[in-house]
Amino acid sequence: MTQEPALSEALRPYRARLESEMVRGLPPFPSGTPDPAHVKPDETAPLHPLRHVIDAGGKRLRPLLTMLACEAVCEDADRALPTAAGLELLHTFTLVHDDVMDNDLTRRGRPTVHALWGGPLAICAGDALYAFAFDKMAQNLGTARVTPETIVHIMRRAAEVSYELSAGQTQDLLFEKRDDVTLDEYLEMIRLKTGVLIQLSVEAGARIGGGDTEQVAALSDYGRHIGLAFQIVDDLLDLVADEAELGKPVGSDIRAGKKTYPVLHALDHLGPADRARLLDILTTPEPETTPTMVQEGLSLLVEADSMEAAKVHATREVENARAALGRLDAPGGSAIALLARVADYMITRRN
Ligand code: IPE
Ligand code: IPE
Ligand code: MG
Ligand code: MG
Ligand code: MG
Repeated sequence: MTQEPALSEALRPYRARLESEMVRGLPPFPSGTPDPAHVKPDETAPLHPLRHVIDAGGKRLRPLLTMLACEAVCEDADRALPTAAGLELLHTFTLVHDDVMDNDLTRRGRPTVHALWGGPLAICAGDALYAFAFDKMAQNLGTARVTPETIVHIMRRAAEVSYELSAGQTQDLLFEKRDDVTLDEYLEMIRLKTGVLIQLSVEAGARIGGGDTEQVAALSDYGRHIGLAFQIVDDLLDLVADEAELGKPVGSDIRAGKKTYPVLHALDHLGPADRARLLDILTTPEPETTPTMVQEGLSLLVEADSMEAAKVHATREVENARAALGRLDAPGGSAIALLARVADYMITRRN
């Protein structure tokens, strides 16, 4: 993860082991010819669409959570390495398809797979990542002290979470067309599209580490709360982040008419004329939404104090996550301390 140097430094060794595990055994994948219209002169298109997005990096939040949760309960992070890699590959698949859905052209500082190779190939590349993700999880079978029942349970949970994620992503799209989305509907949508995978990442590490019922419950609860905070802050970063640092477009949610936390808060708190103008900006077809309109949308959110409201909610989730961690009785003190710092990072992150 790219965060304040000390945390990033502490996580570096975990990350190095994870990244080699992610591509170990990855089969070749046909690349075809990238669309030259989307390749800038200084960019050499890579040959492997899957490696293109895997090697671009990202924060590796989910697999680091798996490794830390495992270490927290059994003092050995690597026992969960294949599962951690599998969950990050599953996440990477969702990014490839999400960028098709959201029509976004940059991700992790690179052109998206669909920008380079087109939507149909991006669907295939995402499907390939999805398949490889489950193979990786199965590779945790045979690891000393991990029972086959645990692995099967986690893989079934991963299938369940994938289904929920698709449902959440579908709601996210359907909400673009509605102006009556409630905050509760939004919270359920982000729980599904983002929260459940983050929660599973923590839970899976706890289970592979042999955690007992109370340990799994405390860590899973921690994951549930940081998962919600994570997506609320993602909505904020889409409005205010530095685009180069974020590695993906800023203002994309306003252009697409997404019902994010700040937008829903503003729709509830602005006067009728401002509310109508915000809805007008959100419903303007994406190609016709000018940078000035995006700025105007942003000003309306500032006027309604909506970004502050989103931050307050995310902070509350982080406090709940820390409280859940406080209930955890487990031997891996340094991993637990890192999990607490990861919770705080949900609010302070800049990408
Ligand atoms: C982006 O996830 C998609 C969301 C669920 C908001 P991340 O912000 O974790 O993306 P990477 O993996 O760091 O690129
Ligand atoms: C999260 O929502 C999407 C996924 C579940 C992959 P976003 O659409 O906001 O994610 P970003 O901002 O494009 O990364
Ligand atoms: Mg999306
Ligand atoms: Mg998106
Ligand atoms: Mg986003």
